[in-house]
Amino acid sequence: MAFTYYIKTYGCQMNAHESEKLSGILTSKGFEEASDKQQADIIVLNTCCIRESAETHVLGNLGIIKKYKEHNPNLKVAICGCMTQQRGVADRLKKRCPFIDLIFGTHNLHKFSEYVDRVFGGEKFTDIWEAEGSIEEGLPMKRTGTTSALVNIMYGCDNFCSYCIVPYVRGRERSRKPGNIIHDVENLVGQGYKEITLLGQNVNSYFCDGIDFATLLDKLSDIKGDYWIKFLTSHPKDLSEKVIEVIANKERLAHFIHLPIQSGSNRILELMNRKYTAEQYLQKIDMIKRYLPDAGLSCDIMVGFPTETEDDFLLTLDIVEKVRYTNLFSFIYSRRSGTPADKMEQVDEKTKKERIDRLIKKQFTIAQELANSNIGKIYKVLCDDICENKFIGKTQTDKKITFESDKARLGSFVNVKVTQATNSKLYGTEV
Ligand code: 5AD
Ligand code: SF4
Repeated sequence: MAFTYYIKTYGCQMNAHESEKLSGILTSKGFEEASDKQQADIIVLNTCCIRESAETHVLGNLGIIKKYKEHNPNLKVAICGCMTQQRGVADRLKKRCPFIDLIFGTHNLHKFSEYVDRVFGGEKFTDIWEAEGSIEEGLPMKRTGTTSALVNIMYGCDNFCSYCIVPYVRGRERSRKPGNIIHDVENLVGQGYKEITLLGQNVNSYFCDGIDFATLLDKLSDIKGDYWIKFLTSHPKDLSEKVIEVIANKERLAHFIHLPIQSGSNRILELMNRKYTAEQYLQKIDMIKRYLPDAGLSCDIMVGFPTETEDDFLLTLDIVEKVRYTNLFSFIYSRRSGTPADKMEQVDEKTKKERIDRLIKKQFTIAQELANSNIGKIYKVLCDDICENKFIGKTQTDKKITFESDKARLGSFVNVKVTQATNSKLYGTEV
């Protein structure tokens, strides 16, 4: 009987995609996905450390896995990802959880096949690489989606925002060769994938073999087929007019931009080392709206960054009011050891909590108003799920929609007229 595996993924889509590589490697070795994690022969935790809460979840889960291992001493436990890549964490994990068989980081995921052999051969070890190597192409992959696929275009981040741990655990920026990316997208479109999401910590700084991000998008959108391309994440300082122009001029590039501002206060933006002002950010938003009046806009905002005053926070609320995002991801600032912001004067927890509540409430009202304005509109929708005779899909602007149809299929594009709307979801009928 084949060995079985269970992978638990924490964090962002970059991690979700890396778990597809981990499961691809295990599958290529003859492992099968466990139907029940308690029955698995190996459990892999692919971790995140962007906020303290992510790490708390991992530690909580390790407590549960310890019990599994007590019942089944043959179980192998592996932990990898951003959390283990942080300086000192592997040593702390080894002391706190001596039952873990394998600890590795973000720079050596391609070694996983070899590590698995060693662990099943009875070894117990840690291998964390200090620095990133060159990009490893051609790893096996077991994709989770059937209509949507993730494609890495670049790795790492050189921005060093003062609150962020990512540059320390993901290394310096490096871009994949355009030919390899084009080859991947051609294959995925050929296999019937309809939504391709290009991934990078900072996609707008993509650059390889003389090709920048706008040119890459332009080339990708020439691939024949029925699909659309989205991308994550854009840094406002690097999002160029050329990129927006390509999106406006070419088909197959979804009219959706995720553009995190983080704060509306210039004083806080400077302390965050974001390298733009609120005014410059709003100019980029105006540019997007000029070229793509129907664009879906989403954003990340952080409240309670060190020294943030009530006035700073009011400036953030002001931005939310001005831009009117389709989706807003709001976070409470979380101290990350080793980052400059960790040494700044902190805001108390009660104030942070109170501010995030006000931010969420503000966005709720705006989303409600936007929802009402959607009624009667017709959107191109990608059908990506069917549940109790209802079709579920996503608009080009990345809004979830449930709709009725006689002929929609999983993975088909349909035009849907919105008949009803809430702040988070649309409802409609195919036209
Ligand atoms: N605390 C809270 N949120 C953070 N983010 C990044 N670092 C932190 C931190 N230390 C948020 C930012 C980023 C998103 C992915 O996570 O808003 O855009
Ligand atoms: Fe972190 Fe800033 Fe890089 Fe985004 S751009 S990953 S927030 S350092």
